[in-house]
Amino acid sequence: MKVAVLSGDGIGPEVTRQGVKVLEALAREGLAIEMETALIGGCAYDAGGHPLPEATLALARAADAILFGAEGGFEYETLPRGLRPGDALLTLRQELDLFANFRPIVSVPALIEASTLKREVVEGLDLMILRELTSDIYFASPRGIERDGRGERVGVNTMRYTESEIRRIAHVAFATARGRRHKVCSVDKANVLETMELWREVMTDVGRDYPDVELTHLYVDAAAMSLVRYPKQFDVIVTANLFGDILSDEASMLVGSIGMLPSASIGAGRRGLFEPVHGCAPDIAGQDVANPLASILSVALMLRHSFRRPDLAVRVEDAVARTLADGYRTADIVTPGTQRIGTEAMGDCVVARLMA
Ligand code: IPM
Ligand code: MG
Repeated sequence: MKVAVLSGDGIGPEVTRQGVKVLEALAREGLAIEMETALIGGCAYDAGGHPLPEATLALARAADAILFGAEGGFEYETLPRGLRPGDALLTLRQELDLFANFRPIVSVPALIEASTLKREVVEGLDLMILRELTSDIYFASPRGIERDGRGERVGVNTMRYTESEIRRIAHVAFATARGRRHKVCSVDKANVLETMELWREVMTDVGRDYPDVELTHLYVDAAAMSLVRYPKQFDVIVTANLFGDILSDEASMLVGSIGMLPSASIGAGRRGLFEPVHGCAPDIAGQDVANPLASILSVALMLRHSFRRPDLAVRVEDAVARTLADGYRTADIVTPGTQRIGTEAMGDCVVARLMA
């Protein structure tokens, strides 16, 4: 298996390094894996004037899996669109047609105290946010900032979904629910937006092929409220690109910290891009304080999906759970009575338990 390691900017390199350590440990044990690194994001822009160099795109295309870190930084926010670090990630998702983004939200017993919500609301939580990732207002035209007839500036973006785009993410949602608790909640804004009216219609239609899966619908505003009121009612939440971006950040707080959340972006085959949900966090970069568990848990998702090695995925997830149960915490999840350690040390703790 060929893995492209694109660690990017900010805390990306230091957290990705811990994910790589896990893969290296498994390689020493016999897992056949080749890793190659390339620049992406702000560091690629600095080195060669573009956040997604041809060589990086080529490496990603040739890889079986991509381990991605984070990208961005204050200094790049005023660059023209197309040259900003975030654009590289969006292009990569679209070029590789990674339309299905899985963001599992699973409460970890040892971290219940780190959530801002009450114990009874989050204890035992296990939900999957499935976000459509290659369409919607993120990619559709027309877009831009223009002048209208009177010379006033107008910002324009377009929410757009084709029926086939909705259909394919719907099938992924129902198939995913079959491997879980057989429930899909589709989140839209069908009361106001035609795009979302089509979304609801197609979801309902595809749902007829899965009579064993219960389908419900929620408007996105109600879904945002329900997520913090009674999140355990959900099994699989399927939603559009923009709504999924927002709801997954909200849901991250249910399990204590966004620093814990991995994600998998996949297309039709085994290839996938695996990345923490958190961003580049330039304010804490290079200080050995960032939480590397989202990157390590992204490696577990990679082992499960691209390597088809659920046994190894479970081992990595167990090693993380035991590290936490043993009381080790990075700054974002530290609570009284636990021991605060740095990024590197956290990676070492997980690897030690993985190999024990
Ligand atoms: C995410 C991020 C990205 C997104 C940004 C960095 C472009 O917020 O993966 O959730 O909006 O998709
Ligand atoms: Mg986001």
